[in-house]
Amino acid sequence: MKYYDMHEDAYQQLKAKDKISWDGQTDPKELLNHEINQAIGKKLPDFFQSFEGKSAVDLGTGTGTCALSLAKLGFGVRGFDLSETAIGLARKNAKALEVEVNFEVSDITKIITKDKVDLVVDSSLLHCLVHREDRNNFFRVAHDLLKDEGLLFLHTMIEASDMSEMLDRDYLVYENHILYSTGPDRWEMDWQEVQGKRVFPHRWITTVDLLTEEVRRAGLKIVDFKVEPQERSTGIFCGWLKKAS
Ligand SMILES: C[S@@+](CC[C@H](N)C(=O)[O-])C[C@H]1O[C@@H](n2cnc3c(N)ncnc32)[C@H](O)[C@@H]1O
Repeated sequence: MKYYDMHEDAYQQLKAKDKISWDGQTDPKELLNHEINQAIGKKLPDFFQSFEGKSAVDLGTGTGTCALSLAKLGFGVRGFDLSETAIGLARKNAKALEVEVNFEVSDITKIITKDKVDLVVDSSLLHCLVHREDRNNFFRVAHDLLKDEGLLFLHTMIEASDMSEMLDRDYLVYENHILYSTGPDRWEMDWQEVQGKRVFPHRWITTVDLLTEEVRRAGLKIVDFKVEPQERSTGIFCGWLKKAS
């Protein structure tokens, strides 16, 4: 698992500082109000009359940010992440919030399933998948998990004309839609020399056109989206997809 070291290390460091999420929250209740959950919550009623009895899968759930919020709304939820520490924290967060979610340690690019769900969520996982094969697997898994009328929510980085705030950091290098990073030698990574630095591919930063093409190849279509700008950084694509008929 090429990504394992990076994510596992990050969660171990967060846990040591009593943080309960990827972006450094300290109170599980804050997760329910997270901006991603607000974006999901705003749009969900357009697609579902009621959430009771509906099912969802959160791919790359981390400490459960979206899974927990969906469970609170009434969805039956499974959350997958490759980091054991993240899944441990997700289970603790579920207890604190008194919700039930089935959290599992798993590499989502390798899931084979016959289960079908109403909603599949990607909250900032897809841009972590920096190899074409893994991204193809992500879309295959998402497609296979969806019921015929099911929805896939994507929250992912989009290239912007001015990403200087991000690219001014001297440990990052950007080339051909890949954001490379330096990192500790002990990580098992796909090390490369890019612009004179020893780096590994860290994030896949797509464009709406490229993403639309990726999605089309996977038998999916975008039914609604917007791109949220971020100051001097990538935009964020927030979109809803369905199976192409
Ligand atoms: C930016 S974090 C977002 C976490 C969570 N979705 C959230 O919004 O708080 C990306 C997550 O994807 C997970 N991840 C990366 N590659 C994965 C893979 N192949 N299988 C499962 N999880 C993966 C990481 O461990 C990390 O928790």
